[in-house]
Amino acid sequence: MRVVAIIAAAGSGERFGRPGGKQLATLAGATVVEHAARPILACGRVDGVVVVTREEDVPAFLQLFADAPKVIGVVAGGETRQDSVRAGLAAVPPSAEVVVVHDGARPLVTAEAVEAVLEALGPGVDAAVVGHPSVDTVKSVDHDGFVVKTEDRQRLWLVQTPQAFRVDALSAALERAAEAGTVATDEAALIESAGGRVRVVAGSRDNIKVTVPEDLAVAEALLMRRAEADEQRRSS
Ligand code: CTP
Ligand code: MG
Repeated sequence: MRVVAIIAAAGSGERFGRPGGKQLATLAGATVVEHAARPILACGRVDGVVVVTREEDVPAFLQLFADAPKVIGVVAGGETRQDSVRAGLAAVPPSAEVVVVHDGARPLVTAEAVEAVLEALGPGVDAAVVGHPSVDTVKSVDHDGFVVKTEDRQRLWLVQTPQAFRVDALSAALERAAEAGTVATDEAALIESAGGRVRVVAGSRDNIKVTVPEDLAVAEALLMRRAEADEQRRSS
């Protein structure tokens, strides 16, 4: 098993604020996490998938993925996202060379995005992530609400998942962070701070993360539009 994906879906969804969390919320006839997993399960370059969830949701997730033979593990996550990814990594077989981390809260991922990060993981690259250049102007703001600096938009990319890593680089970065007590918002940041090279590939702005309940309506509209486009392509 060369390429294994870890789907991180063990967050408590505080900003989402609904009991049961966001990964099991319904979206266009399935759960958010099923949408997030589907293109990854369908991607021919991914050999196995480990799904990380909250301990109390393990039985529900086992049921959701009972018919997905590519799912090689459903494991309980941890306090922080990186603890969850670490728990997922522990269930990745030793034969894996590459790990693709994806947020269980990003239901608009595509198999093409997964392929793009895998493709970008060439020699001398420790990690590859998808993102897109910021379309808005970004300003650093202090605690009193005053602008400190307007950033150079040309160089600012908003980064999403999927993120592909060489297993040894990810595993070393996670161990180091656990020892040092460093917490990052994505695993690529841990590679960067260790001096690793992280490549960014252009992805779609549609690949949104469900964070607050209103995001469900946006995600649903985008999924519907995609389904219509697929339908049109098939019938033409
Ligand atoms: N995640 C995880 N384990 C954690 C925290 C987050 O697996 N301990 C996952 C989430 O399930 C989500 C992804 O990381 O798929 C991105 O995190 P985020 O959007 O911040 O989700 P939550 O942490 O659940 O939401 P919030 O920050 O609002 O509590
Ligand atoms: Mg969070």
